[in-house]
Amino acid sequence: MKTDVAIIGSGPSGLMLGHLLRQAGVEAVIVERQSKEHVLSRIRAGVLETVTTDILEDLDIADRMRAEGLPHDGFNLADGERLIRIDIKALTGKQVMVYGQTEVTKDLIDAAPARGLEIIWEAEETALHDIESDAPYVAFTKDGAQHRIEARFIAGCDGFHGPSRKAVPEASGRGFEKVYPFGWLGVLCDAPPCDHELIYANHENGFALASMRSMTRSRYYIQVPLTEQVEDWPDDKFWEELCRRLPPAAAANVTRAPALEKSIAPLRSYVFEPMRHGSLFLAGDAAHIVPPTGAKGLNLAASDVRYLSRALIAWFKKNDAEGLAGYSQTALARVWKAERFSWQLTMLMHRFPEDGPFDRRIQLAELDYIATSETARRAIAENYVGLPL
Ligand code: APR
Ligand code: PHB
Repeated sequence: MKTDVAIIGSGPSGLMLGHLLRQAGVEAVIVERQSKEHVLSRIRAGVLETVTTDILEDLDIADRMRAEGLPHDGFNLADGERLIRIDIKALTGKQVMVYGQTEVTKDLIDAAPARGLEIIWEAEETALHDIESDAPYVAFTKDGAQHRIEARFIAGCDGFHGPSRKAVPEASGRGFEKVYPFGWLGVLCDAPPCDHELIYANHENGFALASMRSMTRSRYYIQVPLTEQVEDWPDDKFWEELCRRLPPAAAANVTRAPALEKSIAPLRSYVFEPMRHGSLFLAGDAAHIVPPTGAKGLNLAASDVRYLSRALIAWFKKNDAEGLAGYSQTALARVWKAERFSWQLTMLMHRFPEDGPFDRRIQLAELDYIATSETARRAIAENYVGLPL
């Protein structure tokens, strides 16, 4: 099989990139390791910046998001007792859209066949070849048979564990990493959210987040040590601890419903530089990971593919190589700022095992500063809604 751009991975990065290329008449094929059902069942975050909603709008795949998504004008930080509202609408003129990544993925997958975007599911042993040449190819097996997709470029959209980043020779790239000594235990349930906006809470016992997918589906998280397992957290124990950490008014409003999904995700900051090697371009989690505290993962994937699709379209349609030459540097400038914000919010809102009373007082002082300074709130709001492309 031959195409213009072979895309590895059918997460948000690969799907948005594939659609943007197809819309401009560039050929693209996606190779995905998992089944379609598996990809559609993954529960991920759910706050979209305009960089992401704009892509769905431009692709004309935004009807369901517009109908079912919840535009939010603000969110809250809590310091144990007090709620500090970050009025993002008043401070930035923008909103964020609460609409699950699972739904974004579904909308993009459903629209693929009609747009001529082929997705090959359940591909095994995916491998990248000749990425330093002008004729790279992706090899894989499916149903026991060997296949290859020859392309002009390969887009590595295969997440943190995929083969694309690993295909870059060790001497040609560098990873920057920070691992946090805790994870987030998440619960999804069919119950109205405890507040109409998100609440990020910093409690003596650790972080908690009250989020939502809709007015009838809630998503909650609590910080837990990495040594703990999901089995250590029966529903009752989860609800007790969540309500202890949320501010009293929100806690009193939590509707306890059976968990539809419960999982623990470790927190990590990671950036790989550069995001290009020869004919291979990395995008999304393949190149960088943020802790979920700022809800930046999906939105960074969106900005990467916005830059990358523009550059690839200019190359194929106008013979203009400038965008591709600058892709890594342009994308990384935005990535590092989102890394900074996610790291800062993580440090501010979590309990670290090594923290003593001094560190706690510093966190409380910073939260008090945010509560009393519009300048501080504006800086947070500007980063939360997403820095300009
Ligand atoms: N071959 C083919 N596909 C692969 C392979 C492989 N060897 N390895 C991984 N993949 C697929 C995964 O199954 C997944 O569907 O690549 C896809 C990567 O998707 P994501 O991990 O969702 O990454 P990305 O599309 O960059 O999205 C970034 O979405 O998933 C969240 O936390 C992530 O919020 C972040 C954002
Ligand atoms: C979520 O709803 O899953 C969610 C929301 C905001 C975050 C992280 C996760 O910062």
